[in-house]
Amino acid sequence: MQIATAIVAAAGSGERLGAGEPKALVEVAGRTLLAWGLDALLAAESVGAIVVVLPPGVDGDLPVGAERVDGGATRAASVAAGLALVETDLVVIHDAARPFVSQTLVDAVIRRLDDHPDAHGVIAAAAMTDTIKRAGEDGVIAATEDRETLWAAQTPQAFRTTALRDAYAQAGAAVAGATDEAMLVERAGGTVLIEPAPASNLKVTTPEDLRLAELLLAQ
Ligand code: CTP
Ligand code: MG
Repeated sequence: MQIATAIVAAAGSGERLGAGEPKALVEVAGRTLLAWGLDALLAAESVGAIVVVLPPGVDGDLPVGAERVDGGATRAASVAAGLALVETDLVVIHDAARPFVSQTLVDAVIRRLDDHPDAHGVIAAAAMTDTIKRAGEDGVIAATEDRETLWAAQTPQAFRTTALRDAYAQAGAAVAGATDEAMLVERAGGTVLIEPAPASNLKVTTPEDLRLAELLLAQ
């Protein structure tokens, strides 16, 4: 089994949450969002090193063995800063904004990639349970999508390190618009697989998400 380096994207400002401090440092059920996610990565058998990307000047109170690096203006720039420190053939990216990630899910994406030599990446994604509509700006529904083929992308996302570095290089300035790494690898022609993940691995984006996270983590 190959051992991956984990990059935790934690350098965002959390504008939509509006907590007045970086989102990764916001506390839920007595611990920071970052600390909850780090638990799963530290416990994962397939993770050997952890790089945490934080806003410049923020120390993050990291566990022993985790390395810290300054992030950039966009999520892609932050992940690129972490990627520069990776020395293993496999890398797994995780957003600090997803505190519900489990050790099982982290190991599952890395092992699945390790088991599929032809794949360049494996990402956690949740099956859709709602009926999905496509609508124009006028609010008029143009189509009902085939739910069976749609997935909501999450993190962790595991990649072959060279494939991810090549995808960044190929995208150039277009990386700024990327909302996940898989998008860049897909665009570069890479093969990325879905690892079905629970919808409860939710991302904390708004104050409402934070309240929900508080209720779930407090148990
Ligand atoms: N992120 C990052 N560097 C950035 C922007 C985002 O490392 N320049 C990270 C965030 O810390 C988060 C993840 O990417 O863990 C997902 O981004 P998002 O949920 O959008 O977080 P923020 O950018 O902090 O929030 P907002 O967009 O509301 O400001
Ligand atoms: Mg953001």
